[in-house]
Amino acid sequence: MYLFVLQLVNDDTLRATLVSNLYNYIDSNGFDGLDLDWEYPAQRGGADSDKEQFVTLVKELKEAFAAKSYLLTAAVAVTQSNIDLSYNVTGLNEYLDYFHLMLYDFYGSWNTETGVNAPLYAQLTDDASLNFNVNNSVNVWISNGATPSKLVLGLGAYGKTFTLTSLNNTSTGAPVTGAGAAGPYVAEAGTYSYYEICEDQVNNAAEWNITEVEGNYVYANKDLFWVGYDNPNTIKAKAQYAKTMGLGGIMYWAVDLDDFSGLCGHKYPLISAGIAGYNCA
Ligand SMILES: *[C@@H]1O[C@H](CO)[C@@H](O)[C@H](O)[C@H]1NC(C)=O
Ligand SMILES: *[C@@H]1O[C@H](CO)[C@@H](O)[C@H](O)[C@H]1NC(C)=O
Ligand SMILES: *[C@@H]1O[C@H](CO)[C@@H](O)[C@H](O)[C@H]1NC(C)=O
Ligand SMILES: *[C@@H]1O[C@H](CO)[C@@H](O)[C@H](O)[C@H]1NC(C)=O
Ligand SMILES: *[C@@H]1O[C@H](CO)[C@@H](O)[C@H](O)[C@H]1NC(C)=O
Repeated sequence: MYLFVLQLVNDDTLRATLVSNLYNYIDSNGFDGLDLDWEYPAQRGGADSDKEQFVTLVKELKEAFAAKSYLLTAAVAVTQSNIDLSYNVTGLNEYLDYFHLMLYDFYGSWNTETGVNAPLYAQLTDDASLNFNVNNSVNVWISNGATPSKLVLGLGAYGKTFTLTSLNNTSTGAPVTGAGAAGPYVAEAGTYSYYEICEDQVNNAAEWNITEVEGNYVYANKDLFWVGYDNPNTIKAKAQYAKTMGLGGIMYWAVDLDDFSGLCGHKYPLISAGIAGYNCA
């Protein structure tokens, strides 16, 4: 797949065929646009030229889509180092309707200490020099030339899990031995969907120690199992932040990771909290 994209964006004829095929596919199936999710131009075996050719692809798609005003969006990585490698922000900003900022996976079982999936602001245990959070990345995209109203704030409906070294330290920045064990449904070590988190907390309430850093993030442990995540309150705070910053909206990774069947109460608690936050800010 990656090799295919690499060859494709760097070849005028293949690119023209792709643009025309995509237009026809969208047009004949009743879609209203296209979201590109290339992770990531000029990385993971790509060519340096991908960065500029991505702008070329987006420009050609936008020109083809103009006839029917189809939407053109892209999911993008959020750190300055990823921008340097993969994105000509001002170039993309000319042609994309929205950037879907993937503002999650800040911390995970690749780290040696606990950290929450997507802190809105710095974690309380972060060094002052560490700018690794949603707020910093939104500002990075704006300072690189993105129009704020084209930025869509990505929200994670899941947590990143760890196994603590000991119960001496259950905070962020605590030493870990690795990923938390896989959950019952998504079955992936290191990741719990929101409905796996909330169901476990409802069923085993006495065993959970939950800490909410208001308007920022949540983390919790059950014995040595540790998870850093968002609940409806922090999702609401992030959606209000998106509105206050003049961003175009919010999006989720992913609809099917929220409590879609109402295991823990109302259906879709995170998605409804985001809508409420964005609309009331
Ligand atoms: C970024 O894209 C714009 C529009 O295509 C182009 O004018 C500009 O030269 C590009 N910037 C760089 C650094 O290549
Ligand atoms: C948000 O990020 C900006 C730019 O990096 C920074 O100046 C500001 O202090 C941050 N806000 C908070 C509450 O940390
Ligand atoms: C936890 O704290 C106790 C008491 O201070 C200490 O004896 C023990 O070595 C600590 N365990 C770890 C894994 O740090
Ligand atoms: C719960 O977590 C907080 C924050 O990490 C910690 O200060 C507290 O000691 C923990 N309480 C229990 C009972 O483990
Ligand atoms: C937990 O561990 C982190 C990283 O080693 C450290 O910065 C922090 O002070 C520790 N907190 C406690 C309560 O021991």
